Amino acid sequence: MISSKGSARKHLIALVGFGTVAQGLCKILLEKRDLLKREHQFEFEIVAVSTRSRGTMFHPAGLSLSYLNYLSQNNTPFIENVKDWDAVDMIRESNASVVIELSHTNLADAEPALTHCQTAFKTGKHIISGNKGPAALAYFEMKAMAKKRGCAFLNEATVLSGTPTFSFFHATLKGNQVSGMRGILNGTTNYMLSEMESGSSYDNALQQADKLGYLEADQSADIDGYDAQAKLAILASELFDLSIDLTDIKREGISAITQVHIEEARRESKRWKLVATLSVGGDKTIAQVVPEKLDLSDPLAQVNGTSNAITFSTDLLGDVTISGPGAGGVETGYAVLSDLLTLNAGAFS
Ligand code: HSE
Repeated sequence: MISSKGSARKHLIALVGFGTVAQGLCKILLEKRDLLKREHQFEFEIVAVSTRSRGTMFHPAGLSLSYLNYLSQNNTPFIENVKDWDAVDMIRESNASVVIELSHTNLADAEPALTHCQTAFKTGKHIISGNKGPAALAYFEMKAMAKKRGCAFLNEATVLSGTPTFSFFHATLKGNQVSGMRGILNGTTNYMLSEMESGSSYDNALQQADKLGYLEADQSADIDGYDAQAKLAILASELFDLSIDLTDIKREGISAITQVHIEEARRESKRWKLVATLSVGGDKTIAQVVPEKLDLSDPLAQVNGTSNAITFSTDLLGDVTISGPGAGGVETGYAVLSDLLTLNAGAFS
């Protein structure tokens, strides 16, 4: 971060990964640079970008955002400001003050993202992650490591995409005691269930989700509930300060749901949803991701397509539901921006 007398702090950003979310973020930053400076005293440069397939670019004074946006439209290898670095070299060697980790999620051991986070903290750099691996598997370890170095470990983009769940919980619901939550955390399966309600078979809905680019690289992550399971573990850590091992979260996907089930639910005025539940109010914590047949009066039953939602059970307000986009480049890019603004305000611990 550059800070000089009379000028705002300037955040120097390194991007790990240049897929849909990184490109969505670049688009937002290009369009909103002036507004972010004027209204939030947020100044930045993207100094480095590292990808596995297109190489690494670095310029200590900042890469051109217009050029990065050009690269979003044109899938060519990087040719300007190229450096012979992998992501770890980039994190270690560049002058970035914040690393935005947007490589593919790996829920087996969170690598290589975990090493990227560790390298960043060891070299005094903040981490903003849209990658679910580190937060799902090593949230408290990463928080502690970050804190020791005075760094941030921020993960708003990992759950409900751009819908600002963490800040909603921490800022807007403050003063409430929250005894639990139920949510639709996976956009792909929600899209598939909505398609099946419109008459598609399970296989056609899956094909369509694939065609629209909704599926994770490993489609089982979506349809078998692993993605929602990881998101629930992140919510438990971030919102309730609870460390829950993924294997302690009961998990069932949607692959057993057929048109027969959909029709049966329709006759009962109900709707199938893949529901993630976390209950912390009783003697025992309950954490599960399972398909449920919901009454149409349930706010979660009204959340269709790739949208996500969470209903929080609060002592002062009763149930409060937040709903919004669950995927998308600009949408998830927005969550990264909101973490950048949190960082800029110094509002992290
Ligand atoms: N595959 C994920 C989903 C992407 O469908 O929700 C967003 O995390």
